[in-house]
Amino acid sequence: MFITLEGPEGSGKTTAVEAAVKKLQEMGYEIVRTREPGGTPISEQIRNVILDKENTAMDGRTEALLYAASRRQHLVEKVWPALKEGKIVICDRYLDSSLAYQGGARGLGIDEILNINLFATENTWPDLTLLFDIKPEIGLARISANANREVNRLDLEKLDFHNKVRESFLQLAKRWPERFVIIDASLDRETVAKNTMEAILSRLCK
Ligand code: TMP
Repeated sequence: MFITLEGPEGSGKTTAVEAAVKKLQEMGYEIVRTREPGGTPISEQIRNVILDKENTAMDGRTEALLYAASRRQHLVEKVWPALKEGKIVICDRYLDSSLAYQGGARGLGIDEILNINLFATENTWPDLTLLFDIKPEIGLARISANANREVNRLDLEKLDFHNKVRESFLQLAKRWPERFVIIDASLDRETVAKNTMEAILSRLCK
């Protein structure tokens, strides 16, 4: 089973899934936790190029292609082998982030970005996508309150960009309702963790 975690900056998706991972491991499932862009040495190198705050000259299509390249390498080296071995892969961000950030917020077009990603992923879709929905104002405030979190090139985009990211994610959830579950990430931590766990368990038991 391939599960992806999506949402605007500061939605708390990484923390929200921790309790669910623990519970699944106790139940005997083997879990692979990973992230995009990154998750393998080559993909982490691509991540550094994409997110470097100095790379202000980066063109939008270059950015989209680099995310797709990093995604492909991550699938080849990590995700596909784990799925083949029957493990549950839980990945922070996947192709929906490209559709929302590059397709929607950068204005490159959701279907254009989908096309390059279908090539990159050979039509590998998640079984479940949890969308941690939160207003960008709240998410960005959480990030700036967290001194340990490194600010990246995309965090520095204006509020309007982040609003478009959120709207695009919600649009994607409407387009693929059978794959998406929306989690209200503005609720308290315990409730968000509980709702995350329920969403995963109910999909597993389907
Ligand atoms: P994160 O690891 O802190 O979530 O940072 C990754 C950043 O990259 C975040 O701002 C979202 C952005 N991103 C895209 O714009 N497109 C993508 O395809 C992915 C995976 C991430």
